[in-house]
Amino acid sequence: MDDHDDSRLRQQEQHLRATEEAVPSSSKKRWRLLAHTISKKRRTEGDDDLALSVCRRFLTFGLMQYGEMEAPTASSGIWKSVTFAPGHGDASFHAAVHLLSDEAVSVEDLVGFNNTGNVCIWPAEEVMAYYVGKHAKICAGRRVVELGAGMTGVAGLVAASVKAESVLLTDGNEKSVANLDLIVRHSKISNVSARLLRWDAPADLEGLEHSVDVILAADCLFFNEYRLPLLDTIVKLLSSNGEAYIFAPSRSGTFDKFADLAKLRDDLSIEIETDYDEVVSSGRDAAALLCASNGFDENLHYPKLIVLRRK
Ligand SMILES: C[S@@+](CC[C@H](N)C(=O)[O-])C[C@H]1O[C@@H](n2cnc3c(N)ncnc32)[C@H](O)[C@@H]1O
Repeated sequence: MDDHDDSRLRQQEQHLRATEEAVPSSSKKRWRLLAHTISKKRRTEGDDDLALSVCRRFLTFGLMQYGEMEAPTASSGIWKSVTFAPGHGDASFHAAVHLLSDEAVSVEDLVGFNNTGNVCIWPAEEVMAYYVGKHAKICAGRRVVELGAGMTGVAGLVAASVKAESVLLTDGNEKSVANLDLIVRHSKISNVSARLLRWDAPADLEGLEHSVDVILAADCLFFNEYRLPLLDTIVKLLSSNGEAYIFAPSRSGTFDKFADLAKLRDDLSIEIETDYDEVVSSGRDAAALLCASNGFDENLHYPKLIVLRRK
């Protein structure tokens, strides 16, 4: 780690500690965990997901509504009913998701094999879920796989609700997959399943090669060591007329780095869109106006869209 990185992390740490003062006591434990994690990281690695953890204050564009529900099982997490907020999304959508609670996320979890998917539903996933619901034709009647689905795979659940032929929710984190499995078991939707799939483990693709019509992925492009394995995974999975919808924020050039890798492939066409939906763009503009209070940072929170298609 160079001096610049160290000073950047020191600033993040200070920012986080300052922010802790401003949050309600119920959230203080989480902030302390993150501050602790950062201190530890500053001494060791200083990688990108650190910045990600710190900057997670902005969590939603308000496209989905979270309601209370009776828990179908006893668990250490929280069951929530999720719907599109009124007026958001043409398709109706309702799903029960299980969120891992504060207590379920330990410091070890935060620094272990990428645990970013167990922290929250990231804005990119929310936007992707909304987009998939609004453009039901993309997934209807098709075989869909969500990569890096995190703990809820909510966009994949929306794909199932708009009548995908099948939906497979995947992640490389075992805890995320156990949670996805819990959600699937209680969703009572027959065409959804969950499985562990690491982009850097070719054996995990067994039985899936060239069989996927639609790949969904949200906020998965910032892992420097996994961009190429992710792209290779997408190419191996896509069927002959398959397409991948990838939503991710710029995150200091990491979106562009992935796009550059994709452009090198002569078997893929690539489309990049920044303003792909009026509602999402105006949500971004409104969030930007309030950034001093809501922590919104377009670089970290506004997902751009890459569509990859097999040529
Ligand atoms: C920022 S989270 C996004 C989770 C979810 N899509 C969302 O936006 O809420 C990134 C996800 O990528 C997964 N991931 C990271 N590296 C991976 C790899 N090599 N193989 C599979 N999944 C990976 C993490 O486990 C995590 O769930």
